[in-house]
Amino acid sequence: MPDTLSVTDNRTGKTYELPITDGTVRAMDLRQIKTDADDFGLMAYDPAFTNTASCRSAITYIDGERGILEYRGYPIEQLAEQSTYLETAFLILYGHLPTQAELDAWTHNITYHTFVHENIKKFLEGFRYDAHPMGMLVGTIGALSTFYPDARHVLDEESRELQTWRLIAKVPTLAAFAYRHNRGMPFVYPDNDLSFAGNFLSMLWKMSESKYTPDPVLERAIQVLFILHADHEQNCSANAMRAVGSSRSDPYSATAAAAAALYGPLHGGANEEVLHMLMEIGHKERVPEFVKKFKGGEGRLMGFGHRVYKNYDPRAKIIKRTADEVFDLTGRNPLLDIALELERIALEDDYFIERKLYPNVDFYSGIIYQALGFPMEMFPVLFAIPRTSGWVAQWREMITDPEQKIARPRQIYTDGHKKDYVPIGRR
Ligand code: CMC
Repeated sequence: MPDTLSVTDNRTGKTYELPITDGTVRAMDLRQIKTDADDFGLMAYDPAFTNTASCRSAITYIDGERGILEYRGYPIEQLAEQSTYLETAFLILYGHLPTQAELDAWTHNITYHTFVHENIKKFLEGFRYDAHPMGMLVGTIGALSTFYPDARHVLDEESRELQTWRLIAKVPTLAAFAYRHNRGMPFVYPDNDLSFAGNFLSMLWKMSESKYTPDPVLERAIQVLFILHADHEQNCSANAMRAVGSSRSDPYSATAAAAAALYGPLHGGANEEVLHMLMEIGHKERVPEFVKKFKGGEGRLMGFGHRVYKNYDPRAKIIKRTADEVFDLTGRNPLLDIALELERIALEDDYFIERKLYPNVDFYSGIIYQALGFPMEMFPVLFAIPRTSGWVAQWREMITDPEQKIARPRQIYTDGHKKDYVPIGRR
């Protein structure tokens, strides 16, 4: 059987053979389908890209029906259990697990770039005392482009490599500085003797002690959360990174755009929304009443549902296990009982079953973050730190892909034509 699709245009009676490659037809192959020579040709209409592959990618694989997530072919469960965040970031970026020498060099390069220019402190201080840390992060990531004008040489491989190190290394520092500003606390400089996660905790929480020593359980929990959030193929923020980067903007500007996309409550802002929802529910007994509301279209059950997963999000399963380890140390977050009851009732309810709505990564992550002592405004920031490696990997893949061009979708124009201008006094 040939790998082709036969399409008959009933307007003209003509039949076309469209090649099928990797389970897709090329949207541009539709363009030949015309009613006459003046016709522009057929386009594909796909608002929100629900059934459009925008690229070929070798980074992350998701089987949403079966709840599978792999980075470069390695199951997320194995990476969460056995890898470190920096090793996983290397894997995502370079396509293979590093040798010891590669890992040492990579760790050195990231550690070496954790400091930020002193002027960044000045403009962070310019933000209002109660500025949302994610807003500050978006702004300061974008501002990095002014410190590294060499970053605009996006076609230069060496420059891309340097910006990769800088971005992965500096985003945690910016994130921690934003947090300290928001709390009115002095900034803490990076401690390069600590691990990636340990250093981040030190920059957040170090007080008067001369050396901050992270609790190994908390350090590990943050690391697992970082691994789980490192990449997730063509999600809203990865798509923003690729789209903005496709105009050959520097990677700091593109990463700021990606972080801005992540900020939204339907993407990285969802875990903050989950906590607001759990607090509003307030008690296990009120769960059925709220589930009824969500089914009636009054709000959404935040942390449930996913564009790709039509099964339990594998990351949510791992987070649930990590939560138990954290709660052994910090004491149980009372919101967990409400969340467990919400999950139980929703998973038995026909509305959620029919629509294949399951807990996603955000359902339990906020509960752990809160138990770890993070205020809710930090939740999207905690997502952005590890996702930076994914964004950069997506950007690098896009820049070096000969099939990619500036991202520029088409539209269906819906208003009239050739209207005569009416002066304002006669409207
Ligand atoms: N609660 C109640 N109903 C829902 C929910 C929900 N959380 N999610 C989807 N639905 C319903 C929706 O109303 C629709 O019903 P109907 O067919 O009767 O109109 C159906 O399920 C399909 O929903 P959709 O909006 O077409 O699905 P989507 O693929 O466009 O949206 C989503 C995916 C994640 C935006 C959505 O499920 C949602 O808003 N979830 C809550 C927010 C959330 O948890 N976001 C985090 C996503 S995971 C982390 C990340 O990627 O950042």
